[in-house]
Order: sequence, then structure tokens, then C-alpha cells
Amino acid sequence: MVRKAIIPVAGFGTRLLPLTKAQPKEMLPVVDKPVVQYVVEDLVSAGVNNILFVTGKGKQAIENHFDKNYELECKLKESNKLDLLEKIKKIDEMVNIFYVRQKEQKGLGDAILYGKEFVGDEYFVAMVGDTIYSKNIVEDLIKAHKKYNCSVIALERVPREVVHKYGVVEIKDNNNGVYEIVDMVEKPSVEEAPSNLIITGAYILSPKIFEILKNTKPGRGGEIQLTDAMRTLLEEEKIVGVEINCKRYDIGDIFSWLKANVEIAYEKYPEFREFLINLINK
Ligand code: UTP
Repeated sequence: MVRKAIIPVAGFGTRLLPLTKAQPKEMLPVVDKPVVQYVVEDLVSAGVNNILFVTGKGKQAIENHFDKNYELECKLKESNKLDLLEKIKKIDEMVNIFYVRQKEQKGLGDAILYGKEFVGDEYFVAMVGDTIYSKNIVEDLIKAHKKYNCSVIALERVPREVVHKYGVVEIKDNNNGVYEIVDMVEKPSVEEAPSNLIITGAYILSPKIFEILKNTKPGRGGEIQLTDAMRTLLEEEKIVGVEINCKRYDIGDIFSWLKANVEIAYEKYPEFREFLINLINK
């Protein structure tokens, strides 16, 4: 049973400045919800109800979002806005949330290490707080974990010319979209990339990763990289990758954030679709 998840949300979000100067990027709106709510809903839909946020300075809006807001609830009740009341009540009731602060932004690997005591000795989900998908993916990762009883990485197939921006995996067997991972390379050149399958930021990890992270030296950008720790884990344990069959949006990138808003609103609101069609045909 995978019951716990860690969502690191402590990063500075420098790629989106000045938007993220005083506002966490994980709270940016994607149509009608903040980014991190999509992440939490994906976990909850897969039965993962205990979530640790690794937060940092200036990230209080995330705690407030998942907290109860009595005044607002009373106001909505008084004015008989019951549909809105249900929507906001659902948010704090859906999950058990825990918080810990990352003292210095030393990278994703360092942020995950803050979850050691929370997780204990079991497999857990780790999902970056700034990436969302056009459909829920956690359930598929858990299915693969149950089948292979090992760590799992969500993978996305991208055009080969962009592999240099990502962590890329080398794979062995393909069993209906589940691959045995042989190696991982961070930001390889197009020529050197072992595949065009990239690491997307959603994982099921063995608790052994914590001991490894403790001893992982800062890597690229002077940060403690989760990918470096997973390479070490791979020397001791099997890791499989699951190819996601949906769209992924990295909200830390301005164009990807804009695309998420437009594509999701296009699907959701017929009047917006019409507006876009008219705009393009102008
Ligand atoms: P990113 O590397 O995309 O976040 O990390 P960042 O450092 O905020 O981005 P830029 O490059 O400055 O724009 C992915 C996720 O990991 C968290 C981030 O908050 C984000 O949700 N993170 C990153 C941490 O929690 N701590 C860190 O030290 C780094």
C-alpha cells in the first residue's frame, strides 16, 4: 500500500519572476484552481491521503489554501451560495496535510530528504508541486509499483531535439509502456541521449532513497539532485518507468503555464472555445 506523498514546494520559481516574487508558483491559477490542487487531487484519486508539503519562506498561501476558512464558509452559507461552499469545504476535507520547512533551497533531492521522518520505512509518492497532467497519473504509477514491487518513475516521450533540457533514461525492456530503467543522464546532448524518454517529476520511491540522499553531494547547479540519488539507488534496486499517455505542463515555465490555461479552458468552457476560434479567425 502506498499511503504517503511528499510534495516539495519550496523552490524560488526564478524562471517566472517577477510573477513569483511574493506569490508561490505552486499557487498560480490554472483555469479555476491553483496548480498544487491538481497535484493533490491526483494523489487523492489514487487513495494517497497523507501528504507532506516541503515549504519555504513566502509559501504560506499554500497552507491557507488547504486550511479551513470558517469566516468564508459562514459568509457563503448566509448568502446561500451553497455550491461555492461545497467547493471550498472539499479542499480542506479531502486530505491529511503535514508541513515541514526546507531551511535552504538546496535542490529537489534535499527537499525530499526533509520527508524522511514522515515517511518512515515504506514506499512513498514524490511529486513536484509545479507540474500537472491532463489526466490523473498516480494510479498508474501505483499499479506498476504493485506489479514490480520497486521504485517507479513517470516518463514522457518528447521530440529528440529537446532532450537536452531534461533528465533522460536509458531503458531495457518495454512491457506495455512499463520500462526497466538501466541508467539516467541529466541534460544530455541530443547525440548522447540514450532515449527520448524524460523524467517528469512524479515518482514512487523506495525509502532507501533517504540514506542515499544524505550522502549525495551537490551536483548540477550546486543543488542536491534527486536524479543523482536515483542513479545510486539503481545500483542496488530495480527501478521501472511508466510512460504517461497525456499532456504534461511544467508551470514553472511561462509558455507551459499559458498553454495549460488555454488548453484546459478550451476543453472545459464552450464559450471560451468560441472566443478563441473567433480570435484566431479575426
Ligand atoms: P524547480 O527546479 O522547477 O523549482 O523544482 P525552482 O527551483 O523553484 O525553479 P526555478 O528554476 O527557480 O524557476 C521543482 C519543484 O521542486 C521544488 C519547487 O518548489 C518545485 O515545486 N523545490 C525545488 C523545492 O522544494 N526545493 C528546492 O530546493 C528546489
